[in-house]
Amino acid sequence: MKKPELHTALLLLRPVTMDDFKSVHAWASVPENVRWMTWGPNSEQDTRWWLAEAAAKPGYDFAVVLKSTGQVIGSCGIYADEANDTGTLGWILHRDHHGCGYGTEFAQELVRYGFEDLRLRRIIATCAAVNVGSSRIMERAGMRREGLRVKGVWARIDEEWVDRAEYGMLAEEWNAKNQCVGVAIGRPGYSACSKSSDAQCAPLHAR
Ligand SMILES: CC(C)(COP(=O)(O)OP(=O)(O)OC[C@H]1O[C@@H](n2cnc3c(N)ncnc32)[C@H](O)[C@@H]1OP(=O)(O)O)[C@@H](O)C(=O)NCCC(=O)NCCS
Repeated sequence: MKKPELHTALLLLRPVTMDDFKSVHAWASVPENVRWMTWGPNSEQDTRWWLAEAAAKPGYDFAVVLKSTGQVIGSCGIYADEANDTGTLGWILHRDHHGCGYGTEFAQELVRYGFEDLRLRRIIATCAAVNVGSSRIMERAGMRREGLRVKGVWARIDEEWVDRAEYGMLAEEWNAKNQCVGVAIGRPGYSACSKSSDAQCAPLHAR
């Protein structure tokens, strides 16, 4: 299987490799950075184990690379549940790069990749309800808030149960939003739409 590389305006999403250890460990080992993750903070052994697993399954975990500098600033992924034809999204950026719009960019690209390239039926993601950055990038990628699991997730750093927000989107919803772009240029979500003055037709990744 050819290892996929995805491109956004500012980012390259490429398969993670063992050579990414230093960058990955820089965020995975820091408690504030993994506050809302279901894993971590990582020991060096944890990070090496994760990288080995991720590198063995190309197409699921991506290193988030800043095109302008080549720096690896985070990772993101899409994890397939084949029985339900569903992909689950996940992500983390080094805290030095939060709030710069990168999460919005890669979330939109992961949704496009999931529906257009992997041909998934449904894409979902969850986060601690207080994790505003994560829920905002789901919303910006077109996902709908589908539920709230009260005290549904254990916050490992704070050592308390917190509410978990659940988001989802169906392929037909994504297709409906991108239909006019597809008709105009033959590839949904990319390049300019001939009707780009129409908000309904704006490419998904436009901020
Ligand atoms: C979640 C994460 C990937 C978001 O990426 P990001 O690049 O910081 O997000 P963006 O810059 O694209 O911001 C998207 C929106 O969220 C808001 N936002 C981002 N971080 C925020 C924060 N800490 N608090 C409140 N709002 C925040 C932005 O203002 C923006 O709002 P807008 O849509 O109203 O303009 C990033 O914050 C992160 O890696 N956090 C730590 C790991 C983590 O929590 N992962 C998710 C576990 S479910």
